[in-house]
Parts: sequence; C-alpha cells; structure tokens
Amino acid sequence: MDSARNRIHELTTALNEHNHRYYVLNAPSISDYEFDQMMKELEALELAHPELADPNSPAKRVGGDITEKFEKVKHKYPMLSLSNTYNREEIIEWESRLHKGLGAGTDLFSSVEIEYVMELKYDGLAISLTYENGKLVRGVTRGDGETGEDITANVRTIRSIPLQLRGNHPGEFEIRGEVFMPRAEFERLNRERAANGEEPYANPRNTAAGTLKQQDSGEVAKRKLDCFLYYVYAQDVTYNNHFEAISHAADWGFKTPPSDLRYIEKTSSVDGIMAFIEHWDKERHNLPFEIDGVVVKVNRYAQQEELGLTAKSPRWAIAYKFKAETVSTLLHKITYQVGRTGAITPVANLEPVSLAGTTVKRASLHNADQIEKHDIREGDFVYVEKGGEIIPKVIGVDTSRRKEGSLPHSYIAQCPECGSSLVRREGEALHYCPNENGCPPQIKGKMEHFISRKAMNIEGMGSETISGLYDHGLLRNVADIYDLRESQLLGIEFTVSDEFGENPKKRSMQEKSVQNLITGIETSKQVPFERLLFALGIRHVGETVAKKLARHFKTIDALAAASFDQLIEAEEIGDKIAQSIQDWFAAADNRSIIERLRSAGLQLEVSAEEAGASSDKLKGLTFVVSGLFQHFSRDGIKANIESNGGKVSGSISKKTSYVVAGDNMGPEKRKKAEELGVPVIDEQAYRGMVEG
Ligand code: IVH
Repeated sequence: MDSARNRIHELTTALNEHNHRYYVLNAPSISDYEFDQMMKELEALELAHPELADPNSPAKRVGGDITEKFEKVKHKYPMLSLSNTYNREEIIEWESRLHKGLGAGTDLFSSVEIEYVMELKYDGLAISLTYENGKLVRGVTRGDGETGEDITANVRTIRSIPLQLRGNHPGEFEIRGEVFMPRAEFERLNRERAANGEEPYANPRNTAAGTLKQQDSGEVAKRKLDCFLYYVYAQDVTYNNHFEAISHAADWGFKTPPSDLRYIEKTSSVDGIMAFIEHWDKERHNLPFEIDGVVVKVNRYAQQEELGLTAKSPRWAIAYKFKAETVSTLLHKITYQVGRTGAITPVANLEPVSLAGTTVKRASLHNADQIEKHDIREGDFVYVEKGGEIIPKVIGVDTSRRKEGSLPHSYIAQCPECGSSLVRREGEALHYCPNENGCPPQIKGKMEHFISRKAMNIEGMGSETISGLYDHGLLRNVADIYDLRESQLLGIEFTVSDEFGENPKKRSMQEKSVQNLITGIETSKQVPFERLLFALGIRHVGETVAKKLARHFKTIDALAAASFDQLIEAEEIGDKIAQSIQDWFAAADNRSIIERLRSAGLQLEVSAEEAGASSDKLKGLTFVVSGLFQHFSRDGIKANIESNGGKVSGSISKKTSYVVAGDNMGPEKRKKAEELGVPVIDEQAYRGMVEG
C-alpha cells in the first residue's frame, strides 16, 4: 500500500512537471511516448487504489467526471467588463481622465507618473480560478458578472492550467484569465465535423464557450482548450503592481503572456500604447489564437485602487478594439420592433450572408438618424459589420449599386403594434411608443422584466405564461399578477412557439404548473424593496440605481414624494434619472399599481435590519482602508465606518487605530503600519467589530 502511495506521488510530481514544461513553457524534456507510459501507469494505480486518487491528479486531465448541473457560485469580486475604445483620441481622453482622477491638474506643475501594462485581448471566455494551499479548488465562469457556474471538472482538463502550484505562491488566492480555443484546434475540429457530414462550428470563441459547458469533462478534454491568466487577487503579497503579479504567476506555474513575443509590455506614454496597438493590429492574424483588441491597464495597485470602478468596468483599464469585419449584402426590407420600454428599433432584413463565421439575416439599423445619415433604402446593397456584439449592424450603403428610381426610406410615425403616434424626446435618438400601459409588447415586456430572475424572480411564470394570460385578459399590468386565482388558471390554454416565433403549439395549464405559479407569486412578496424598485421598470432605474435609491430613500412613499432636488442629492442620481422617476410617479396608473402592490403585501420599504445600520460602536476610532473588499465597495466601507461613529483617514499615522486591509494592498502600507505598531485587520475582523 505504501509503495503504491509513494509511486502515485512520484508519478504525480513528475507528470505535473512534464505537463508544465510541455503546455506552459513549450519546452518538453521527454517524448510523448514516455509521458503516455507514465500517465497509463498512474491511471492504473489510481484505478486499483481509488482511495489514494487526488481530485487534482494529472490523470484528471483526460476528464471523465460528469457534472449533472453546474452549481451557481457568487464571485468574491464581480467579474467586470472593460470599456471599449476604437481610436487614438479615445485613448488620449482616457489617459487624461486618469491624470485627473489621480489628482493632477489641480495645480499647474503637478503631474503624476502612470505606468501602463499592455496585453492582448484574448477572444474567449473569462474564468476565475481559486487556489488553496497550492491546489486548484474551483473554476467558475463569468456568468452575469455577479454569479457564475462551477465548472471545475472541465477546467481540470485544460492542460495549461496548473492543478498543483510550484514556487512561493500565496496560501489562498484567486486568479482570472481567458479560456480560448487555439485556431489550429478549431480548424481540426471543423475538419473532423466536415468528414462526419456535420455543420461546421461558427468561430473559436463560441466553440470554446460550448465546450466549457459540456457536462462530460471527457468531451472537454478532447478539445484542446488553452488559457492565459490576466489578473491576480491575493493578500499579503510582496509586489505592488500588476506586471509583477503576472510574472509571479508564471513562477507559480501559470501560463502568462510571454514578454519576448511582445504579448505583454509596459509603457508610460500614449505613443507607447499606440505603438503596441499598431503592432498587433498588423500582426494579429499571425497569432495562433484569435484576439479582438488589446487591453491597457494601470500598473500600480495603489493607482488602480484610487481610480476605482464604475458599475460595469474598472476605470484603470480599457480595451482597444480592432476594426471589425464587414461584408455587403442586399437589404430586402426594414421592419420595426417595439421593446419593453416602448423603444422602437428598426431592423434590416437581409439576404443571408456569411460574416465572421456566422450567417447573418438580420441587422440593427439603430434609429431614424442612422437611416437618414447613411440614406439607407430598401433594395440597397448595404455594408454589414460584426463586432463583438451578437447582433450585427448596418454601417453604410454601396451607392454604386443603387437601383434607379429608389426612394429614401420614410420612418414610421405610428407604433406598428398599437397604432399610437410615436414620440421622440429631445436629445434622444430613439422613437418611443408612448402608450406604455396599452401597447401589447410593452405590457408583456414590462411583466417579463418584472418576473425576471434579478427582479421579482417569480418561478413558474415565463414569457409564454405572460403572453397567454395577457391574451385571456387576465393580465394588463404587474399588479394583476397578485390577483390571479387558482380557479382562473386551471385549464387555461395558451400557445407556445419555437425560438423563431414559429410552429405554434397549444398547451393548457395543469394543476401542477398552476400550483408552482401560485407558490412563485406568493414567494415573490418577500422580495426586498430594492429589487421591487428595479422590477417596476422605471426608465433609467437599473439594478444599481434601484439599490442606491432604496438605501437613500428607504420607502417607496419617500421616493414618490421626493422633489427633483432631493432626488439628485442621492448618490449616482443625475438629472435624467430624477426626471424619469418624477414622470413615473406622476402617472395615476402607476400610483394605483403601487397601492395595489401594497395591499397585496409586497415590500415597499427597506427591511428594519437594513434601515437601522447605524451605531456608535466605532466612536473615537480612526481607520485607514486599503485594498479591495468583498462585502463593501471602497466608498461603502468608508460610509459604514462613519455610520458606526468611526473616522476615516487617508494615510497611516500614529493616530490610526486600525488599518483595514483588503486584497492587493501594497506592501509599503503594511510595512508602515507595522513600524508604527498599528494593527492591520481584514474585512472579516472589521465586520466582526461592527456587527458582532
Ligand atoms: S482584464 C478587471 N485582460 O475581456 C479587469 N480582460 O471586455 C477585467 N479579456 O471579461 C479584465 N483579454 O474576459 C483583461 N488581457 C486581458 C483580457 C481580458 C481578454 C476579456 C475578459 C473580460 C473582457 C472584458
């Protein structure tokens, strides 16, 4: 037994080492044959002694574990996206925003030095990996940014992701990167599919996405995915910038971009950034994988922290996107869609054309101005472009192919669904159907939004149920949902169509689905106020804004009664949002909906727990906060300290009572705190102080 254990250990160590040499360093030191022999021996030993098999055994690389359902995992830090730029001017603007953000410009002679790290923007899928004591414990997809799916079994099959780290790595940390399918593997797969008479896959990105979501990790192992790592979140580190984090990650065994191939570079100037962009714009087609741009990041953590994040993306990083591919095709007809908010979107119905690997039949025309500006007409040959977005767009007309006698397109004046006259508010690009509470797609769309997962999350109800209940006259607005009774629902018939809105089939509601629906509705009455506020679908009140409003005003009555000036006093609320809120509450229909929701017992104010979060527990104490926190934003933790009676200071001195340290706090600060004997506590200890 002991000899088996020893041999398994020996083989594991050797295979991990050879794996790293082969897949990360590209420098194998044994033949494939020898590697396979060792792997076979390990597999046989693990089969004979299952109790000795490690979940991170290199034998797991070939997969075999089946995941029935991927567990949802909430990210420690949201997985954000990046804001995009497309030209030098936008890079210059970003650069000057950074300088402003970092305090330059307040006096003429001051300027801060900012160092940038430039990387490739790999065209794949974001992944978050967690390591504990040097072992991979979890791999999670981006999901919606807040919550992803645990795909660890699949991640283990990606050879360039280490299962066991080497060197002097942090005890517990998270590292993020991009999983992608190399071009050669994509082409191999498609050749294989063609030989089997199957449709080819559209592009490497989608194929990688589909692969990662396979339930059988054995299937994943067969498709050679790869991964570059691009960000580290760790505590107690010896470096204070991103570039060093990446080079340390390479020492720990990760595949990180090599400097000698110029996959990653540092610069301190816009010219340096542009040189990197120009190099890769030309060279990108020669890379063994696809990229859709480059990413520029502020190197120093202290500066990253000071610049902070917006709701969607970090201010300290930006993507530069390369120009997308375009084709030309015939525009048959312009049709119009009415969205949940009443926004009208013109749609180009095209002669199908192949673009960036997919077949395109429809494209967005954006709005009336775009159609007028490019003088886009039915019967024209138009240029269609596909960027990162799923829906391609029409960007211009090939006027040389215009037919004689063609007429400029005249934009509709009436709603295609309900016939109301369209309006266009000043300063806005889109036409709207104003019949908010009477136009079918708006009513249905509002209800779909209301019941959606991030809003009221009503289980047992979907867009087909809504459509069906609407057609039977049982639903006209969201308050009607709470008047639905079992007897009305039993046996009710509605139509289900396929994803293209075709092949309608009749279905009727049976006892079980009625029960589910009634329970779902009942449960939703406990959904917190902030989500109800989001669910109402007030224009410009998204999830984040709803949260801020709920925290600021605490009750729906206070929000409804707030003046314009009181509204814009709240954090992140500008003129546009304030106006929209006032308009919404001014409408009698909406006020009556609120009253009906109140009678139904929904949460129209923040819970007592949330409302009374203030104390004087921290009275007399001064805090310095640094790094990234899990439970709080940077402003959030400061506000929390203050609302509990404490003071917040920007720099560590003898007067500091505590330093609250998050991830990626620079070592200088820790050293300073130690020198002055100031205790450094983590976020959990802080929460213990205020909550305990
Ligand atoms: S950094 C907090 N670096 O692009 C920093 N992202 O549009 C966030 N991506 O979801 C990302 N290459 O999946 C970063 N070198 C790179 C990247 C990269 C590709 C992806 C990433 C992200 C998306 C943002």
